[in-house]
Amino acid sequence: MAKTYKIATIPGDGTGPEVLREGLKILAASAAKGSFKLDFSEFDFGAERYLKTGETLPDSAIEEFRKFDAIFLGAIGHPDVKPGILETGILLKLRFALDQYINLRPVKLYPNVETPLKDKGSEHIDFVVVRENTGGIYTSQGGATRVGTSEEIATQLMVYDRRTVDRCLKYAFELKKKRNGQNKKYADKPITLIHKRNVLTHCGDLWYRAFEEMGAKQYPELKRDYNHVDAANMWFVKNPEWFDVAVTENLFGDIITDLGAMIQGGLGVAAGGNINPDGVSMFEPMGGSAPKYAGKNVINPMAAIGAAMMMLDFLGETKASQAVEAAMITVMKKMKSQAAGQMGYSTSEVGDQVAEFV
Ligand code: IPM
Ligand code: MN
Repeated sequence: MAKTYKIATIPGDGTGPEVLREGLKILAASAAKGSFKLDFSEFDFGAERYLKTGETLPDSAIEEFRKFDAIFLGAIGHPDVKPGILETGILLKLRFALDQYINLRPVKLYPNVETPLKDKGSEHIDFVVVRENTGGIYTSQGGATRVGTSEEIATQLMVYDRRTVDRCLKYAFELKKKRNGQNKKYADKPITLIHKRNVLTHCGDLWYRAFEEMGAKQYPELKRDYNHVDAANMWFVKNPEWFDVAVTENLFGDIITDLGAMIQGGLGVAAGGNINPDGVSMFEPMGGSAPKYAGKNVINPMAAIGAAMMMLDFLGETKASQAVEAAMITVMKKMKSQAAGQMGYSTSEVGDQVAEFV
C-alpha cells in the first residue's frame, strides 16, 4: 500500500497563499503518479489571525504539528504588524519548539535564470548553505537597561554549546558525503566552515575546533576549508564555484543566505527548509509576503515549488523530488524572467506547467 504523508500547510500572509497553492499543485501532481499519498491540513496562522485575535501561535498548535510528517509554509508578515511579533511568535517559535536545528538553503542557479554576477552561469553556482538554526544570537540571551535614556545599554549574546555545534556539523558533513557520491564536481570541492574566529575568539574557536575534530576523526576523506564570514561574502560574489557545502552559525547564515538567494536568481526562486532530521521539518519559499504583489497572480511560485521539491526529498521520495526539479528546469527555460510580473506567465500558469511536466 502506498505510504500517506500528513502535511500541515500554513498559507500565511500576502502572496504566501498564492505561491503555496502552486507548491501544493506540484505535490498533488507527484502523488497522482501513485507511489505515495498526501493528506493536507490547513492552518490559518499569520498576520490576519493575529490582527483579529492577538494570537500568534498557541502551544496547542505546536502539539498538533508534532503529528505531521512535515509543514509547508507560504509566508508570514504584514505591514500593519510591528516587526518582531510574527517572526518570534510564529517562525522562531516553530523552529525552537520543533527543534528544527538546521536551516538548509540550496544556492543553485538553474539554466536560463539570470544572476547579477557577471560571467557566472549555472556551472558556477551550485552549493548548499547549512545554517545552524536554533542557537547563537537567536536565543535572545541578554537584555536592556536604562532604556530610552542616553545611557541605554543593550546586550544580545551569541550563545553556543558543543552539542548544538556538533549536531549541526554532523548534518553538514553527512550532506557533503552524500553530495560527493552524487557528482564528481562536488567531490572536488571542500566543505567550508564560515565564522569569524579572528574576532569571535570564543564562539569561533568552539566552532573551528569542533569542525576540525569531527572532520579529522570521522570524515578524513573530505577536504575541509575555513572562511571568515566577511571574506565568504566576497567569495560568494567573486568565486561562488569554490563552494559546495558551507556550514555556519545562525546569524551569519541568515545574512549570507540572502546573498546566496540573490546570486541564484532572487527571492522568486530561493527555497529553504527548517529541518529536524529526527522530527517535523518545515519548508518554505524565501520570498516573504511581498504585500504589493498579493492577490495579483504575478508573483513567481518557483521558490514554493522548490520548497515542495525539498520536502519530497526530505520525506525520502527522491525520485519524485528529482522529477519536480526536472519539471522546474523545463519551465524555467521557457520563462522570460524570474521576476514578478515579468515571467511571461501568471503565477498559476507557472504552476500548471510544472505540474504538467511532473
Ligand atoms: C529567514 C528569516 C528569519 C530569520 C526571520 C523572518 C525571523 O530572515 O528565515 O532567513 O532571521 O531567520
Ligand atoms: Mn533571513
